[in-house]
Amino acid sequence: MSTDILFAPLQFGALVLPHRIVMPALTRMRAGPGGVPRAISAEYYAQRASAGLIITEATAISIQGHGYPQIPGIHTAEQIAGWRAVTDAVHACGERIVLQIVHHGRWSHSSYNPDGSLPVAPSAIAPPGNAYTPSFTQVPYEVPRALETKELPEIVGSFRQSAKNAREAGFDGVEIHGANGFLLDQFLQDGSNHRTDTYGGTIENRARLLLEVVDGISAVIGADRTAVRLSPHGNLGGLSDSDTVPHFSYVIGELGKRNLAYLHLIEPRASSIGLADDASVDSANNAALFRHLFTGPLITAGGYTTRMGIDAIAAGLADAVAFGRMFIANPDLPERIRAGAPLNPFDRSTAYGGDAHGYTDYPTLPLQHEVTTV
Ligand SMILES: Cc1cc2nc3c(=O)[nH]c(=O)nc-3n(C[C@H](O)[C@H](O)[C@H](O)COP(=O)(O)O)c2cc1C
Repeated sequence: MSTDILFAPLQFGALVLPHRIVMPALTRMRAGPGGVPRAISAEYYAQRASAGLIITEATAISIQGHGYPQIPGIHTAEQIAGWRAVTDAVHACGERIVLQIVHHGRWSHSSYNPDGSLPVAPSAIAPPGNAYTPSFTQVPYEVPRALETKELPEIVGSFRQSAKNAREAGFDGVEIHGANGFLLDQFLQDGSNHRTDTYGGTIENRARLLLEVVDGISAVIGADRTAVRLSPHGNLGGLSDSDTVPHFSYVIGELGKRNLAYLHLIEPRASSIGLADDASVDSANNAALFRHLFTGPLITAGGYTTRMGIDAIAAGLADAVAFGRMFIANPDLPERIRAGAPLNPFDRSTAYGGDAHGYTDYPTLPLQHEVTTV
């Protein structure tokens, strides 16, 4: 199988990628106290510096934006300094790295808020299942507090400030997390957004918060360093939408007018991946449905094998492919793909939380020495 198509360079706004094998955001829950990335995270990301682009784990834009234990933030000076060590390590390898920024919305718990206040959401509707508290114990999700209209500029402001902080920390850009059931996705999908103000009801209204965030961030760091991740048809966090294709067609069409660095679409079969290894949901092909609406660069993600990634690019459905679990388990993934080498299996038991085990100790291929034949 020729992998040449994956190794063609391409431009993502202000970023030049040497090839099309991308490391997507992967939460690992190993940040230190105060959501400050530890030194070991610099090692982890530098190990994966042969990726065409590294997108960091989801990183909270504000105290209110946290929702999982030991995830990093980008809203304090200590967090910015911690991330600076990561970007320096990655840039020393000649690599590009963007920060994925998130507000978890209702996928959180009051124990993350110093004043014990409830998580916030578009509407007072609890997600199904259990939240993880900061101490990794599981408790049922609470009914969140619906954000007041007058609070939404503050949310936009926190996103904008986090993008400024990301640049100060040395990141090449930011990816706005509009996917996988977090706050911006909760606003987009009408199963979780029952608002009656200008941020609810029609899809134009439900997309307003995301587009304000995109425009706010573009104004401070440039559209060519601003990217968005979406998961149409995704049901993580109990999300649902009454008419996904027309609704997301509007959102993606609007994003397509904004000269962004890239759009990152997750395939619906990946909806189960965050929770289990079974990627059985395969009801729609988002790249095929929405690619024509976005003229800029597009990354596709979700259950891809090398063969599937090659086929997606060859068919014009995407410009680059993100491999999540394969990148966790194979720090030297691009080399392995090029060489057709076997892949280390992903160990789910070490994915979230813990120490170096399952984080920085996945083996790389032995160094290939040039063999001289006579
Ligand atoms: C351990 C783990 C953590 C993840 N964390 C994030 C995250 O922080 N942000 C995000 O957008 N997606 C996250 N995802 C989803 C991945 O980015 C990716 O879309 C998903 O794993 C499907 O790709 P794959 O089949 O190549 O693994 C995570 C997935 C896994 C397995």
